[in-house]
Order: sequence, then structure tokens, then C-alpha cells
Amino acid sequence: MEQKTALVTGAARGIGLATTKLFLEAGWSVVMVDRDAEVLQSEAAALDNATAIVCDVSDPQAVDDMAAEAVAINGRIDAVVNNAGVADFGPIEETDFARWRRVMETNLDGVFLVSQALIPALKITKGALLNIASISGLRASTLRVAYGTSKAAVIQLTKQQAAELGEYGIRANCVCPGPVRTKLAMAVHSQDIIDAYHDAIPLNRYGSEQEIAEVIVFLCSDKASYVTGQIVAADGGFESTGVGLPALRK
Ligand SMILES: NC(=O)c1ccc[n+]([C@@H]2O[C@H](COP(=O)([O-])OP(=O)(O)OC[C@H]3O[C@@H](n4cnc5c(N)ncnc54)[C@H](O)[C@@H]3O)[C@@H](O)[C@H]2O)c1
Repeated sequence: MEQKTALVTGAARGIGLATTKLFLEAGWSVVMVDRDAEVLQSEAAALDNATAIVCDVSDPQAVDDMAAEAVAINGRIDAVVNNAGVADFGPIEETDFARWRRVMETNLDGVFLVSQALIPALKITKGALLNIASISGLRASTLRVAYGTSKAAVIQLTKQQAAELGEYGIRANCVCPGPVRTKLAMAVHSQDIIDAYHDAIPLNRYGSEQEIAEVIVFLCSDKASYVTGQIVAADGGFESTGVGLPALRK
């Protein structure tokens, strides 16, 4: 069987790096994309079958160039994981347009641009798009006017992609992680927030990068060949709880 190739954005660290390593374990080749050149190149250098491409996913021209370079590496792309993201938590009145755009340009524009640039390659392989949103895109909260809205838009973008690209055999799914102790999360999660998440999440803990990666790689694999347009929360049960007040538990 021919070796499959996955392209993972935001692959230099956190969930993207864990996803890269899991694809490699499963026998895939990986194109690692990130704008943090130094960390990306040092992580990629330590891995077999992984190639680094430095690219800011919010820059349309850079994305087109990256896509051409990525396809040329193995002549195929079988899965695109749109994982690159930024977090910026602040009240609505303090979220000026520059902060709003900084979040939207990576979290939403980046997913649109990278997906679009790689659709021709995915048509050939009947490949998979996998977008990373968040529980913040499923449930509203304070301080997430830009982040939560960007992630809710990624959920809808995934459904649009599934609806329109299904006829080419391309699947599109979305994973919504709950809290994971990555650099992104730790920059915005105080100890109070960490404790409150533990209380509110039925499994009473944060997830790991590996636990999120397992869901991502499954949805990109042939094992999920009849799954498209789905939004899967990997969140310890947070999304499912509704009136999930810790005070209502035994
Ligand atoms: N960690 C969590 O608790 C959590 C929860 C829900 C969703 N998520 C989502 O998971 C994804 C990965 O997050 P993480 O926690 O691993 O974060 P992280 O900060 O550890 O990694 C994100 C990576 O994306 C890269 N990146 C950011 N903007 C980019 C851009 N414009 N172009 C190219 N690369 C860019 C960064 O350089 C970094 O390497 C994000 O989309 C995030 O919103 C994370």
C-alpha cells in the first residue's frame, strides 16, 4: 500500500506536534507547517518521514506557495489538519479590531485558506479535511468574543466543506478539544480557571495532546471513511452536560 501523507498546521508544538507523531506511528508521512521557524525546524529534524514548511497560514500568498511545496514532497496529500490557532481572552469592550483580526486571521481565515489551497490535491486522493475548533465554539463564555466566535465559525465552515466537497469523495470533520495544558492554554488559564474546569468537566481533568491526536488521526483515517460533516468534542464530557453544575453531583 502506498504511504499516505498528512499536512498538519501548527505542528511545531502542542496538539499539532502530538498529531504529527501519531500519524508517523501509524505509518503516514507528515508535512509539518508552522510560522515558528526555529521550533518547527528543530522538531522536524528529530523525526523520520516529516518535512517542515515555514508558513503563516493567515497569509494567502504564503499559503499558496506552501501548498505547492507540500504537494511536491510526496506527490500527494491525503489529509489536511487545520490545527494552527491563537487564543486571546478579553472582555468585548477591550477587544479592539486589531485583537479581533489577530484571532480571526489565524483561526478562521487560516482554515479557509489552507483548505482551499489543498482541495485540488485532496480531490485526487479522496482525502480528508480535519479542522480544530474548541469547546469555546460550542458553548459561549465570557472573555472569548473573538476566540469563541472564530471557533464557532470553524464548525460551520467544516459543515460547508462537507456539504460541498462530498461529491469529490473529500470528507470534512471537526474536533473540538476541551482544555489541554499546552502553551496556548496555559497563557490564558489561571489557577482559578484550571480548578473550575476540573469541577465542570465530568472526567474531572484536562485532556492530553495525545488524547486529542487520537481522535484527529482516527477521523483522517480510512476507519472513518463514512464519517463526514461531524463535530466531535474530545472534552471529558464538558459539552454533553447541559446543566452541569458541580453542586448537582453527589
Ligand atoms: N490547548 C487547549 O486547551 C485547546 C482547547 C481547545 C482548542 N484548542 C485548539 O487547538 C489548536 C492547537 O492549540 P495548542 O493548544 O496545541 O496551541 P499551541 O500554542 O501549543 O500550538 C499552536 C501552534 O500554532 C502555531 N501557529 C499559530 N498561529 C499560526 C499561523 N498564523 N500560522 C502558522 N502557525 C501558527 C504556533 O506557532 C504553534 O506552534 C488551536 O487551534 C487551539 O485553538 C486548544
